[in-house]
Amino acid sequence: MTGVRRLQGGETALLRELRLAALREAPDAFARTLVDALTQPETYWTDMERSVTDPARHVMFVAEDGPRPVGLVFGIRKSATDADLGGMWVDPRARGRGVGRALGQAVVDWARSEQFSRVLLWVTDGNLPAQTLYERLGFVATRRRDTLPSNPALATMEMRLHLGNGASAP
Ligand SMILES: CC(C)(COP(=O)(O)OP(=O)(O)OC[C@H]1O[C@@H](n2cnc3c(N)ncnc32)[C@H](O)[C@@H]1OP(=O)(O)O)[C@@H](O)C(=O)NCCC(=O)NCCS
Repeated sequence: MTGVRRLQGGETALLRELRLAALREAPDAFARTLVDALTQPETYWTDMERSVTDPARHVMFVAEDGPRPVGLVFGIRKSATDADLGGMWVDPRARGRGVGRALGQAVVDWARSEQFSRVLLWVTDGNLPAQTLYERLGFVATRRRDTLPSNPALATMEMRLHLGNGASAP
């Protein structure tokens, strides 16, 4: 039985384990490289843990299959109106069972409860599983395009979900 919960204070090791597993397994999905993450000092991870467990800042959700961590996603405060969804990853052994959808929904629910107007994300062109997952959650592609910072040979596109909280430009 898979559950989704917020990362708690003091769980820096779990954050690092999941994040490194994601960067190792799916390098073309993320802006940061594994090498970059592996060479960061301990404070990088403790700072990140604090930033996602401080209720006034960001959030990280962990998916667990029993005791086994199998996925993560971040919700980031970008501005007064916009939240970013980032770092979405599900262990290949746990895919196709609704874990990604549950993680994405957790960020959307958090953003709605925090009164954000929109959730934004970037996805690599051709990443059909992720694009389809986000479409199922209600995200639509915008016209904004960029390249993946970790591999500028790859193109990325922005997707956006309007939450109906307050008013913001489309
Ligand atoms: C994208 C990812 C998170 C999906 O996780 P998952 O747990 O397998 O997804 P779910 O089982 O919740 O699927 C939810 C929906 O996504 C879509 N989807 C998932 N896998 C898919 C696939 N291989 N092909 C097409 N659509 C897919 C489906 O629409 C699915 O809904 P449905 O089963 O009702 O049709 C996972 O494949 C992953 O971690 N990929 C590598 C990292 C990555 O690309 N992250 C995204 C960065 S932007």
